[in-house]
Amino acid sequence: MAKENDLMEKIVSLCKRRGFIYQGSEIYGGLAGTWDYGPLGVALKKNIENLWWKRFVLDREDVYGVDAAILMNPLAWEASGHVGGFNDPLVSDVKTKKRYRADHLLEDAGENVVGMDLAAMTALIKEKGIKSPDGNELSAPQQFNMMFKTSVGSVDGSDTIVYLRPETAGGMFVNFKNILDTFHPKLPFGMAQIGKAFRNEIAPRDFIFRVRELEQMEIEYFVRPEDWEKYFNGFFDEQMAFLTDDLGLTKEKIHKIDVPAADRAHYSKHSVDTEFDFPFGQKELLGLAYRTDFDLKAHAEASKVDLSYFDEESKERLVPHVIEPTFGVGRLLLAVMSDAYAEDDQGGEVRTFLKFSPKVAPVKAAVFPLLKNKPELVAKAREVYTALKKEIPQIMWDDNGNIGKRYRRQDEIGTPWCITIDFDTLGENADLLDTVTLRHRDTGAQERIAIADLAALIQKGIRA
Ligand code: GAP
Repeated sequence: MAKENDLMEKIVSLCKRRGFIYQGSEIYGGLAGTWDYGPLGVALKKNIENLWWKRFVLDREDVYGVDAAILMNPLAWEASGHVGGFNDPLVSDVKTKKRYRADHLLEDAGENVVGMDLAAMTALIKEKGIKSPDGNELSAPQQFNMMFKTSVGSVDGSDTIVYLRPETAGGMFVNFKNILDTFHPKLPFGMAQIGKAFRNEIAPRDFIFRVRELEQMEIEYFVRPEDWEKYFNGFFDEQMAFLTDDLGLTKEKIHKIDVPAADRAHYSKHSVDTEFDFPFGQKELLGLAYRTDFDLKAHAEASKVDLSYFDEESKERLVPHVIEPTFGVGRLLLAVMSDAYAEDDQGGEVRTFLKFSPKVAPVKAAVFPLLKNKPELVAKAREVYTALKKEIPQIMWDDNGNIGKRYRRQDEIGTPWCITIDFDTLGENADLLDTVTLRHRDTGAQERIAIADLAALIQKGIRA
């Protein structure tokens, strides 16, 4: 366990040192459960999102992208069951008043809480004499609603309570009719959205794994009720393909978990979670749920707007059922980061590197002049850099320190290739005119390659 904690510490420290992720509002001492993405974190996040959008929206004909408002009419969250049932089991330390998740304390004590309800947790905490981490008695567990509330309106006493959305899904269900009316899609079809969601987590933990402000990528896929299983299984396979083929995650670290009825969300009739071997254990990475017609029916009833679908061919009216693949962007980023983290020995020195797949790497290649005080080398390197950047925007210029230092820096941010412009590039050795040294991140191997071939080589790596 010490080794695993050590790995997380190294990852958190690298994320800060190299500008991936910083603590939220750090200069004020931070705010629990919030994190700020720096330039490389944003680049990595956008790559993950773009790969997702490409696979699940652009490459398909049947999925419509939307970007709905975060603030919604509060009636929507009453209808969806979140006001009444989006809860976590809360206990507090009777002395310090610190709050904890009852299920987490039980898990930390080695108990299996799968499928356990609040009454069973209460009994088990009593039976096992479980105390708070500070060694004090705990209050009886109670349900705690995780939605953040805020208010809309400026006149005293007339404010309306609204919620920060706890999942992006809601914004899609309320636009179901808009998509029907404007695009006239045929079943099956889906809606997709990437955006922020907010959860007042009792105990945010494990870096960006459990946060209060998160980003989700979700699809609501509408099907005929009798077809649900076929599309459910199809989306499971697509989720796996996204994780392995697009993000390059190690297959053996990915686990399929059938969620027992007691642990399913209130809207789900069947759920399969995908878990991942994070440095702190095997934990949920993403989900897949069969939401039946729960949401469309609930919103139709509450809004009094017909949310049924009319099949022109069979002349039949029905309320479609929903398959929902859901992904947390931060958890995917942490999985990619922890899977890529590596150390080796190079010339008697420990080298840290991130072996990102070129598809997700925030910087695809870095261009260096061998010496920064030789104008002819700098000018040629600038020329190569500018031409490459036109074709592949995620190219970095680096002329700080000696070549060895630059390699270490690029290794730590996971840049697959480094390109050095030297005197041979300029023709000192006539045979090598207009060639550069290309250095491969994972092996440290170097080869000579023509400038004219660079863009194609990098493009091939990104596409592979
Ligand atoms: N619309 C379905 C839904 O929201 P969920 O299992 O509650 O389902 C979906 O959340 C995904 O969102 C999770 O699999 C996880 O990746 C991510 N997620 C949920 N809560 C999170 C949190 N507090 N911090 C980071 N990611 C979270």
